[in-house]
Amino acid sequence: MVLIGLSWGLVAASLFLIANLYVTINLLAKIFFGKRKFKWLRKMESAWHYIHYVGNMSAFTAVSLHLLFFESLANYVNWTLVAFEAWLVFCGITIRFTKAPVKLKNVFRKLSMTWYMFSAFIILLVVSHLPFLPLMIFPFPK
Ligand code: HEM
Repeated sequence: MVLIGLSWGLVAASLFLIANLYVTINLLAKIFFGKRKFKWLRKMESAWHYIHYVGNMSAFTAVSLHLLFFESLANYVNWTLVAFEAWLVFCGITIRFTKAPVKLKNVFRKLSMTWYMFSAFIILLVVSHLPFLPLMIFPFPK
């Protein structure tokens, strides 16, 4: 059971990594190179949109399955993380796929698709998994 639960976690992490590869590289480029423009990064941006949408939706599905196996172990930080991701996916879908008013979309944008929300999510992701490190070491408990 632990192995299946961990596998869903691995699937979720891999999908998340692929879905947000452009976001991560763009953030690192801004940190290390400031306003310098990279042609290949602009090209990657235009190619990445659908990978970002489909990847994040699939990652969230995998996270839900991961949680299904470890629900009894989940702490408050884990639940906050899931709610946080649900919020990001909800905002992303509203911004991209609905005809919601532009003003509302702009508010959602600031509260989701920004470097600070992305960084907060990554920090929460790491911190919330620290108590489970012993579970991730082979041989896994039953
Ligand atoms: C299915 C879910 C998602 C959809 C449909 C979606 C959609 C979008 C859209 C349309 C943009 C461009 C926003 C704009 O017009 O300025 C965007 C950018 C962004 N998204 Fe998402 N998103 C989703 C999930 C996520 C998640 C889960 C994260 C973070 C963990 C995230 C992080 C970001 C970031 C940081 C940007 C800004 C990228 C940049 O320009 O550097 N998104 N997303």
